[in-house]
Amino acid sequence: MRVLIIDDQASLLDSMRFFLEQRKCKVYTALTGKEGLKTAFRERPSLVILDLKLPDMDGQIILKKLRNDMPATQVIIVTAFQDMENTINCIKLGAFDFIHKPIDINEIDSALNRFDKINRARTHQDPPQKQGVAAPSDGKTPYIVGKSQPMKEVFKKIAMVSDSKVTVLIQGESGTGKEVIARTIHYQGAWKNHPFMVVDCSTLVDTLTESQLFGYEKGAFTGADVTRKGTLELAGEGTIFFDEIGEMPLRLQSKLLRFLHEKEFIRVGGSKVLQSDARILAATNLDLAKMASNGRLRSDLFYRLRVVTIYVPPLRDRRSDISLLANYFLKKIGHKHQMPIKTITSGARQLLESYAWPGNVRELENSLIRAAVLTKSPVLTREDILNAISETGVDAVQEPSEKTLAEVEKEHILQVLKIKQGHLGKACRTLGISRPTLRKKLNQYGYK
Ligand SMILES: Nc1ncnc2c1ncn2[C@@H]1O[C@H](COP(=O)(O)OP(=O)(O)OP(=O)(O)O)[C@@H](O)[C@H]1O
Ligand SMILES: [Mg+2]
Repeated sequence: MRVLIIDDQASLLDSMRFFLEQRKCKVYTALTGKEGLKTAFRERPSLVILDLKLPDMDGQIILKKLRNDMPATQVIIVTAFQDMENTINCIKLGAFDFIHKPIDINEIDSALNRFDKINRARTHQDPPQKQGVAAPSDGKTPYIVGKSQPMKEVFKKIAMVSDSKVTVLIQGESGTGKEVIARTIHYQGAWKNHPFMVVDCSTLVDTLTESQLFGYEKGAFTGADVTRKGTLELAGEGTIFFDEIGEMPLRLQSKLLRFLHEKEFIRVGGSKVLQSDARILAATNLDLAKMASNGRLRSDLFYRLRVVTIYVPPLRDRRSDISLLANYFLKKIGHKHQMPIKTITSGARQLLESYAWPGNVRELENSLIRAAVLTKSPVLTREDILNAISETGVDAVQEPSEKTLAEVEKEHILQVLKIKQGHLGKACRTLGISRPTLRKKLNQYGYK
C-alpha cells in the first residue's frame, strides 16, 4: 500500500514512516499542504494521512481537493482538537476516518486495519478484469458494491465487527443485501477458515429443529441411531447466521437465548453441557422492536441480538449506488452466461435510477438478468429495462386498468406468492399482512 503523510512535525513524520514501513507500506511524506498536494498528484497514493492544521493551508481544503480530484484515494484526518464539529465536517467531506493527536500508534494501527478490510470488502471500485469479463468470485467471499454514505457506514461497521465475536443484527428490507453482509463479516474476519452456517429461521418448524440446531445423542428418539452434531456445534469457531430471525418460533427463542447467554448447549437426549465458540449473526426484515413490544419476540432475546446493529437502507434511499450496482451486475451476468458484457443507454440508466425498487438489489439484479438475456443487442435501452422490470416487478409501471380493488388485490397476492415460490412467510412480509390474514384471503379465493 502507498501512503502519503502530510504533517508539519518532522519527528512525527519519522516515527509514522517507521511504523508504516514495518507494515510494508511505501511511504511518502510532506511538511506542508502545498508540497503534500503536489506529491499526492504525482504519486497517487491509496491513502493519505493528513494533519488538519498545517502552516500554509487549511487541512479541510486539502481534503476537499483530494476527494474531488482523486476519489480513489482515501484520507485519514489527524486532528489535534477534540472538536466534533470539525471532525464531522471532515467525514462529510469524505474523510475515511480520523485519529487524534497526540497520536497513539494503536489508533493508527486499527485505522489501517479498517482501511485494509474496507478496501477488500468494497472491491467494486474496479474488480479485476480479464478480457472485459468480470472476475469470478470464489462463490464464498461476496463483493459488496456501494459508494453511498449509508453503505460507507455499513462498510465501516463490517470492518469494525469482523475481527471480534460480537453478536450483530443486520436489519433491512428484503433484497437489500443482508446475507451478503453477513458473509462478508465472516469471510473478512479472523475466523474465515472456520465454517459459516446458515439457519433459516423461517423454515424452522417446531419439531425437528431442536435436534437440527443442538444435535442429538444416540437413542434420544426413535430413529436416532447415531449421535449427531447440530448446526451450532458444526459451526465450531466459525459463524452461525440466523436468517429471518423474526420468524423463529417462540419456543425455540428461549432455547436460543440460553445459547446466546451462556454459549452453552446440550444435545437432545444428552446431559453433557457443551461449549460453543461461534460468532452469532442474525438478519431480519421485520421490525423487531415492535415484535418485542407485542410479544411475538422475546424482548430479552431482542436485547441480546442487537448489541451491534447494521442497518441496510432500501435501494431507493441510496440511489447513488444504482449505477454502480448495474455495471457490476452486467459484468457478472456477462461472465456467468459467457456472453459479451452489455452496456446500457443513458435513458436506461435514468430509469434504473428513478424506479422505486420495492424488491431492492435483488430486484435490480433479476431485472438486469432478464433484460440482458432477452435482448439481442449489446446495448440495453430504456424499453428493454422497462419490459424486464414489469415482468415481475410487483409495483411496475403499468397501464391503468378497469379492475376492481378486490381483483387487483387478488392478482397481486397470487403474484407475490408465485414470486416467493409459495412461501407464505415470505409472501406475508412482502405484502405487509399477517399469516392468518393471508390464509383467510387464500380461502376466499378457493385455495385450501
Ligand atoms: N451491495 C451489493 N453488492 C452486490 N450485490 C448485492 C448487494 N446487495 C445485494 N446484492 C445481491 O442481491 C441479492 C440479494 O441479496 P441478499 O440475499 O443478501 O439480500 P437479503 O437482504 O438477505 O434479502 P432477503 O431479506 O430477501 O433474504 C444477492 O444476489 C446479492 O448478491
Ligand atoms: Mg436473506
